[in-house]
Amino acid sequence: MTEIFEQKSEVLFAADDIKRSVSELGKKINLDYKDKNLLVVGVLKGSFVFMADLLREIDLPLMLDFIKVHSYNKTRSVGEVSFDLDLTYDLKGKDVLVVEDILDTGRTLKNVCDHFSKRHANSIKTAVLLDKPSRRVVDITADYRCFEISDKFVVGYGLDYDEQFRSLPYIAQLMI
Ligand code: IMP
Ligand code: MG
Repeated sequence: MTEIFEQKSEVLFAADDIKRSVSELGKKINLDYKDKNLLVVGVLKGSFVFMADLLREIDLPLMLDFIKVHSYNKTRSVGEVSFDLDLTYDLKGKDVLVVEDILDTGRTLKNVCDHFSKRHANSIKTAVLLDKPSRRVVDITADYRCFEISDKFVVGYGLDYDEQFRSLPYIAQLMI
């Protein structure tokens, strides 16, 4: 690992804590989406680890898709959200669950949900691994979340700092 990581990081959620929380979330989704037409949409890149683990806790027929957006410049949100990759599936009649790594200012998820809202989905809900409510600047609440954190910059389990640290099996705070 890099020097900055060794000197200035602290584990917030160990791999076991994450596994437990993702499994609990999977159970809720199993109940809520029984007899629905579930389409799970991962927001790349940050959600890919969470999405892979969450899907394996969902014991229901489902389809999956990905979108790719960017809004971040190293550690601070730049405010505007751009779509680099859009859905391959039609949302008509689907119960869409948007899976995101972290809800920070809320701009990304709000933009994504607004973007989907005109496409005749049956329902649109959101699931986030981490929620930083104190950072919110737009009005959005996640329907499902694993952990709430204060205003800390975190990496690991899919989350990056300048594209580093996504492969860590735990979530760490980076003091930068
Ligand atoms: P929002 O649009 O401000 O809610 O930002 C959401 C996006 O910012 C997330 O999908 C992440 O890619 C990124 N982000 C926000 N906070 C963090 C963090 O603490 N670590 C890594 N990425 C973050
Ligand atoms: Mg992201």
